[in-house]
Amino acid sequence: NKRELILAFETSCDETSVAVIEDGHRILSNIIATQIKSHQRFGGVVPEVASRHHVEQILHCTQLALTEADVTYSDLTAVAVTYGPGLVGSLLIGISAAKTISFAHQLPLIPVNHLAGHIYAAQLVTPLSYPFMALVVSGGHTELVYVSAPNTYQLLGETRDDAAGEAYDKIGRVLGINYPAGKAVDQLAHEGQDTFNFPRAMLAEDNLDFSFSGLKSAFINTVHHADQLGETLNRADLAASFQASVCDVLVEKTQRALAAHPVQQLVVAGGVAANQGLRERLTAVLANDQNETELIVPPLRLCGDNAAMIGAAASVQLATKQPFADLNLNADPSLDL
Ligand code: KG4
Ligand code: ZN
Repeated sequence: NKRELILAFETSCDETSVAVIEDGHRILSNIIATQIKSHQRFGGVVPEVASRHHVEQILHCTQLALTEADVTYSDLTAVAVTYGPGLVGSLLIGISAAKTISFAHQLPLIPVNHLAGHIYAAQLVTPLSYPFMALVVSGGHTELVYVSAPNTYQLLGETRDDAAGEAYDKIGRVLGINYPAGKAVDQLAHEGQDTFNFPRAMLAEDNLDFSFSGLKSAFINTVHHADQLGETLNRADLAASFQASVCDVLVEKTQRALAAHPVQQLVVAGGVAANQGLRERLTAVLANDQNETELIVPPLRLCGDNAAMIGAAASVQLATKQPFADLNLNADPSLDL
């Protein structure tokens, strides 16, 4: 019984990450080189800067990942890489590295969807049982996904405009908080009250979609209006009101999805899964739920972008005999699940 060892690459946005995953769930290494400091002064990720950083970091991260896992190329079962969605110039660096290693060491190349990666981060924490529900909330995505069987996805709902994390980052800027603002807004929210009663978009509509741009505008208008009148609003209350609106919508739509598709597990994935307010609300909802749905939120390091989650998703693709990629693999910036 040879162990399955997957070397995984993730370079879709602003983290260069390389991991070695054993048997689909044991993390032997998960190196993450973040570039946040280089993008902060621009208030967001600059694609050209991101790809340059990936080029500089990728070989070093690969060496570290292999050394920390105590494996060599000849021990590997396969190489996996995120090929979309994401920034094309960033994706291409991970793809080039993975192709090179696959070619040089005659290893199968497993192409992984970044969102499947976020979902299967949960497998690094606990065994998954099908069907399960996934709420993917990150800087680029807000999606409710029903996973009926391994590697089988049904998109139930998604954002029509901004992603939840993107909304956090944009209103954070108005509050004078550095990119990425989610964590700091979350902390500030815990010191305030929901006094502004911002809109809860799409709740009246009978679907599982989201919209956060109206909330963002309402927030910005409220602050600008007060500025013009020379008033100073309570920042903690603003953050708490914003967070209450985001959480109300995410939690309500998730509840509706669970009512329509009962499951035993709810996986929350992506950077916003780190949100304390969201975790508390979902925990409370599931505690009162007759189906006894289990809430699975990976630890912080696995919620954000990382290669371990890509290795976990790749292992599921291997088990379900999905086709391998060849040296023609290209980046797909707007890849769907
Ligand atoms: O998954 P991720 O690392 O990258 C993407 O694939 O987008 O998510 C990053 C996003 C950022 O928008 C960040 O502000 C948000 O996750 N975020 C949070 C929290 N921590 C990170 N949003 C709300 N509350 C948090 N505690
Ligand atoms: Zn992500």
